[in-house]
Amino acid sequence: MNVLGIESSCDETGVALVSADAGGGLPRLRAQALHSQVQMHEAYGGVVPELASRDHIRRVLPLTRQVLHEAGATLADIDLVAYTRGPGLAGALLVGAGVAVALAAALDRPALGIHHLEGHLLSPFLDEAAAGIAFPFVALLVSGGHTQLMRVDAVGRYELLGETIDDAAGEAFDKSAKLLGLGYPGGPALARLAEFGDEAAFALPRPLRHSGDLNFSFAGLKTAVATQWRKLNEAGGGSVCEQPRADLAASAQAAIVDVLVEKSQRALRDTGIRRLVVAGGVGANRRLRERLDGAAARLKAQVFYPPPALCTDNGAMIAMAAALRWQQGLAMPRRDGAFDVKPRWALEALDADPAAEAGRAGQPA
Ligand code: KG4
Ligand code: ZN
Repeated sequence: MNVLGIESSCDETGVALVSADAGGGLPRLRAQALHSQVQMHEAYGGVVPELASRDHIRRVLPLTRQVLHEAGATLADIDLVAYTRGPGLAGALLVGAGVAVALAAALDRPALGIHHLEGHLLSPFLDEAAAGIAFPFVALLVSGGHTQLMRVDAVGRYELLGETIDDAAGEAFDKSAKLLGLGYPGGPALARLAEFGDEAAFALPRPLRHSGDLNFSFAGLKTAVATQWRKLNEAGGGSVCEQPRADLAASAQAAIVDVLVEKSQRALRDTGIRRLVVAGGVGANRRLRERLDGAAARLKAQVFYPPPALCTDNGAMIAMAAALRWQQGLAMPRRDGAFDVKPRWALEALDADPAAEAGRAGQPA
């Protein structure tokens, strides 16, 4: 069973081929290709949806050709075409979904829409080094659009433990970086600058840290960083030296990381589960990994991270989620060419009523 996966929910076009056996055994990544639009959107300080869609259209077929070539496969070898059905930018999603469904129809194969966050949740299974990963686990999903703690009991069985009530962790990184005059996306740039700073230099808020639940709030941090940045500018007569700038970057990163670590620890304690999976772009953050490793060691828990290249959006996680669903008999692929996308789509609603889901496909989201 060869699954082609196409991801196009935001600003990365990702395509991958995964092979799976019906008898179980972990599906295997054969090849993957990715095109990031980050440079294209940089000038605008954020993702421009229309430009994203246009670029996905340009990239998706050449990337598909590249993946098949690298896997030593042909179009005829594809048994199932999976695509990201949501959540994400509507136009961007429609490109991936439209191409996937058209390709499937031309090949007389089924197509399957996958939830983007399910892709992230199951992405550690792409890492051959993560051989010890097993259900159940707690997942910390930290991306530009989401910050959630989930309990994952099996493929398709996800329970939301807590989530952000305002900004996502990646957004907090990006907004703080923007205030400090760093490029887009700001997360990696802020993390690099933070390496040279003192994270205790500025006392920034850690909202909801001791709220007793597993929710997050990051909107206040942006305001606090803006206030400190303005004070530094005023003190410097309109400019800020490198050291205080790095100190503020380090302090902002520490505030975000502190809360993520605190709540992840609490989730492990509350559920009694001793496996934590970290997924999503912010999962690439080195300081977060260091701190989570320390916390997990104290709790005698294991932490699994997808390789940094698989933390951010990619086609491999979509193909893997589709392959795992197919193995478990949870896939409901379609052959009738009908499809929809779901720009807003809660992960917990995923399998609430699969029959109804299938029946609704084809209607606008
Ligand atoms: O999962 P992702 O690629 O896209 C979605 O949002 O779905 O995550 C992107 C987010 C951005 O906010 C980016 O700034 C952040 O992940 N990010 C990082 C790092 N690498 C990516 N944040 C902090 N440290 C990093 N090293
Ligand atoms: Zn993502």
